[in-house]
Amino acid sequence: MADTSAQARHVAIIMDGNGRWAKRRHLPRALGHQRGVEAVRTLVRGLAETGIECLTLYAFSSENWKRPGEEVDDLMNLMRKFVKSDLPEFIANDVKLKIIGDWQGLAHDIVEMLEDALAKTSGGTRTLAVALNYGSQQEIARAAAKAAGGGEITPETIAAHLDTADLPPLDLLIRTSGEVRLSNFLLWQAAYAEMIFVDTLWPDFTPEHLQEALDEFARRERRYGGR
Ligand code: IPE
Ligand code: IPE
Ligand code: MG
Repeated sequence: MADTSAQARHVAIIMDGNGRWAKRRHLPRALGHQRGVEAVRTLVRGLAETGIECLTLYAFSSENWKRPGEEVDDLMNLMRKFVKSDLPEFIANDVKLKIIGDWQGLAHDIVEMLEDALAKTSGGTRTLAVALNYGSQQEIARAAAKAAGGGEITPETIAAHLDTADLPPLDLLIRTSGEVRLSNFLLWQAAYAEMIFVDTLWPDFTPEHLQEALDEFARRERRYGGR
């Protein structure tokens, strides 16, 4: 029997489909990304009502540098604008910001801005983890190297050195836009996560879509290899 009371503690989302959202409307891609940020803002505003302790969002992958320079610049500028405009709201809503990925490798002003935002939100109770310049294989390699430095390499010592080490185990992974792949996101953490793939393009994703996914999650039976 499915446990319908099952509450997802840690939910991650691959926010995909901004480009197609814009293309369908004959709008510039940048506008799709802008609407994507608005979808994030709405979701974060409603985070407390979902009961989720940690929401992890894939914002920029280590492979997204392959995109045209203009699009990368648009994405970085949106990041700057978003953190600047929404930081007071994070603080007011008790949201604790966390960044995963090789974010120290981003532009100097972004690193400084993020360090400031991390410090100012450190007292928050619900975590918004943003994956920036993130690649899961790179994260695992970094963690394995650190584990090896300490002696034994085991699943536990690797997990303890992942960027997500202080987060609850991943319960649910959602990808929007109809693509059914992980694109180098949370490969290790997804070992026993439930997965939901929806056709909705990211800018159209609402708190209601998230609630539908949480309801579906609650109906799933997790076995972890047991019976
Ligand atoms: C997701 O939307 C945003 C990022 C990857 C930064 P895309 O830009 O990948 O949109 P599609 O997949 O081309 O529609
Ligand atoms: C994954 O989407 C990365 C983010 C959502 C930030 P992509 O659009 O980059 O993934 P692929 O290229 O379709 O696999
Ligand atoms: Mg995409």
